[in-house]
Amino acid sequence: MNCLETRITDDGSQTFYSQEFGETFHTKYGAKAEAEITYVQGCRLADKIKQQNHLKIIDVCYGLGYNTAAALDCILKINPQYQVEIFALELDETVPRQALEHNLLNHWSSNIIQLLSELCNYKQVNTPQLKLSLWIDDARQSMSKLATKNFQADAIFLDPFSPPKCPQLWTVEFFSLLSQCLNRDGIIATYSCSAAIRSAFLEVGLSIGNNFSIGRRSPGTLATFESKYLSPLSQKQLEHLQTRGGIPFRDPDLTSISETIKQRREEEQSLSNLEFTSKWKKRWFS
Ligand SMILES: C[S@@+](CC[C@H](N)C(=O)[O-])C[C@H]1O[C@@H](n2cnc3c(N)ncnc32)[C@H](O)[C@@H]1O
Repeated sequence: MNCLETRITDDGSQTFYSQEFGETFHTKYGAKAEAEITYVQGCRLADKIKQQNHLKIIDVCYGLGYNTAAALDCILKINPQYQVEIFALELDETVPRQALEHNLLNHWSSNIIQLLSELCNYKQVNTPQLKLSLWIDDARQSMSKLATKNFQADAIFLDPFSPPKCPQLWTVEFFSLLSQCLNRDGIIATYSCSAAIRSAFLEVGLSIGNNFSIGRRSPGTLATFESKYLSPLSQKQLEHLQTRGGIPFRDPDLTSISETIKQRREEEQSLSNLEFTSKWKKRWFS
């Protein structure tokens, strides 16, 4: 088993560091805060709970389970009888197990810890109001299955490692699967504000806006079919999308390894007539 190191973040909650990806699993400004602000607030779960009687959520890259924990916390506080269905997608089943073994979920109630332990052990939880499933596989495979089932989510939490480290979950083709599984009022939330991923959302027909920010981090991204929920991008951000940095990652058959996906993008960038991102930076930052 790949034994993960723990790291403390600014709000007192802990996260893991991945040697394999060379990144922590959450922002240093607060792991719990990130789950609550970027994902639960970003997807407007509290409003949705008041407006509809059932929520469907996809948690892409479940990891330690913080985003699902924060969603359950929000839902159960507003209405303990509320009906919710969550598909949690994760490649490495040792991650949620190690989070539970290190007691990292202790910031949430014992009820939520109990539910997530059951989810980790049995890969599903079924109560009259909760239907939770943990699918251990490459998220590209899992999303293809959800699209085949015609699952329509109200909220999608998109939380892979960063685009340079895990480009396979930030491609136009993967986002196309996300959009197929998003209902007309649904919201995709992520922490990333990279121009490449923002362009990928636009290419699959979604509208984009700024997500809430945490600490001194730039705001992440929200993507929806309905732009009424979105706070629009600034002129600077819009111009960034028109540079070579805005060329998205591509993975035509959803099976490429990360090096191939990065190389494909570099080739597309080298043939592009778009402005160099360094020129855009000079215009806006000097
Ligand atoms: C940034 S962490 C997610 C943190 C998580 N949302 C949380 O709240 O703890 C990224 C996660 O993506 C998982 N992962 C990496 N590649 C994946 C893939 N191809 N499919 C699904 N999950 C993947 C990693 O094992 C890791 O748990």
